[in-house]
Amino acid sequence: MDDTRKLRSTGTGPDWDVDGTDPFDVARLVPGFRPPPLTEETAAAAAAADARMRHWRDPAGGPLVPGSARHADATCRMFLETFNPYRPAVLDWPELVPAVRERIVALPIWDIAVRTEGKARLRMAAYAGTLRDPGMRTALALNAWEEQRHKEVLARLVAAYGIDLAPEPPPPLPRDREWAYLVTGYSECIDSFFAFGLFALARQSGLFPPELVDTFEPVMQEECRHILLFANWAAWHRARLSPWRRLRFEARVAAVWCFLAWERIGLARAVDAPGSAHAQDNNFTLHGAQSVADGGVELRGLLALCLAENDRRFAGYDERLQRPATMPRLARLALRLAGLFGRKR
Ligand SMILES: [Fe+2]
Ligand SMILES: [Fe+2]
Repeated sequence: MDDTRKLRSTGTGPDWDVDGTDPFDVARLVPGFRPPPLTEETAAAAAAADARMRHWRDPAGGPLVPGSARHADATCRMFLETFNPYRPAVLDWPELVPAVRERIVALPIWDIAVRTEGKARLRMAAYAGTLRDPGMRTALALNAWEEQRHKEVLARLVAAYGIDLAPEPPPPLPRDREWAYLVTGYSECIDSFFAFGLFALARQSGLFPPELVDTFEPVMQEECRHILLFANWAAWHRARLSPWRRLRFEARVAAVWCFLAWERIGLARAVDAPGSAHAQDNNFTLHGAQSVADGGVELRGLLALCLAENDRRFAGYDERLQRPATMPRLARLALRLAGLFGRKR
């Protein structure tokens, strides 16, 4: 029997579980990886860890040329040194008044969010296990481990507020690990860009208790670190390829973007179809403004907010590291075109 068929879902639990063990555990998929120690948090330690995760600079001067050993080293140290050792178990789930609880339960994201975190963990760990560079392998494995922690945070939220999840089918181990990692990485670049803006909108709207927004803040910043790591891994990886392998890689990246565009358009149609009002929305980040702000928000305003939040979240990291560029570029282009044609939507 293969690993996929041996699994059973724990429903709202954080893990796939077979006799108390997890066959897709990051430490199993990535030889040599050990989960980092977590701290018993005091308020002061939590505040220090939170500040540390948002700022990082390589003390050595000089450029970080993509593909160089220095660039790889700085990328990996950035990721490890900004790790926030919080325990999901200590997160606070504030009491909610019934109207707020209902609004949260009704968000069409919970199944897809829990599944996405589990799939990201698996795909990142599967790819990390193929890497020969020990620094990159450890950084990507830690990223995978953090996705598992995100899943645990969501599982705890779901349990705290009585949200029903659909039974979770076991995620298969990807056959093409590089492709799966590229899909996950670029997917995070798209979703995080919109999530940064929607998260700020949720905070500004006052529709959600500030304590609940605060609980998710470290998760949001972790996604910023994740796509920062991904952008630098991609730059490092492509710079080290021979011309032919580079050509093949660029073709794969283009195919990934086409796949993600098709997936998002397809899912948007599925969610908009009559009778599918309760469908889970994998495209929430593209049209979720109505759910986090009264009356929604004008598209131009949302894009501007996403851009501002994107810049703010990345501002604390060494400017010599690469940044995810495609989504900010597309958003700036859309804003310029909207300005040219004077359209509001
Ligand atoms: Fe995540
Ligand atoms: Fe992530």
